[in-house]
Amino acid sequence: MNANNIILIGFMGTGKTTVANILAKQLGWQDINSDEMIETAEGMPISRIFETKGEAYFREVETEALRTVLAGKERIVATGGGAVLKEENRDAMLKGGLVVALKASPDTIISRVREDASRPLLAGNLEERVVSLLKEREHAYDFAHFIIDTDVLTADQIAGRIKDYFHSAATEA
Ligand code: S3P
Repeated sequence: MNANNIILIGFMGTGKTTVANILAKQLGWQDINSDEMIETAEGMPISRIFETKGEAYFREVETEALRTVLAGKERIVATGGGAVLKEENRDAMLKGGLVVALKASPDTIISRVREDASRPLLAGNLEERVVSLLKEREHAYDFAHFIIDTDVLTADQIAGRIKDYFHSAATEA
């Protein structure tokens, strides 16, 4: 592992953005959200990109955004939940820094994403969509250096665990 960046992966609603924000403040690093980068570059929300240009296009732009952001240093990168699906992205993440996976139970995820209509892949019956996508992606996040179960932890506690892991791994390396 290199200590250039910290990359947060995980299913939608696992708290990547919130934790990235806390970690960036605490470490004095740059806080980057790949979905936000894409929305700014494309000038429209993710849901609209899916609607007008399709998911395949979104995935291409996502790969490009990750490549750009991971070329830098001292960045906390919150990735979109599907960024792990391409091998090319997984390789770029593993080479770009410490990869941390945030996990949560279906119930936790459903309650966290319920009020937010911005995720095109969760349109329709929310419970069913979460359960079936979680099943599809059952092992998709397992390539991370460090995996945290977030169900019973606050965002501050999660950030604290990541910092501890990062400092001990960076000292060993
Ligand atoms: C997606 C997750 C979203 C966003 C897009 C697709 C996914 O990001 O990238 O809607 O495939 O899991 P969050 O994980 O930040 O919600």
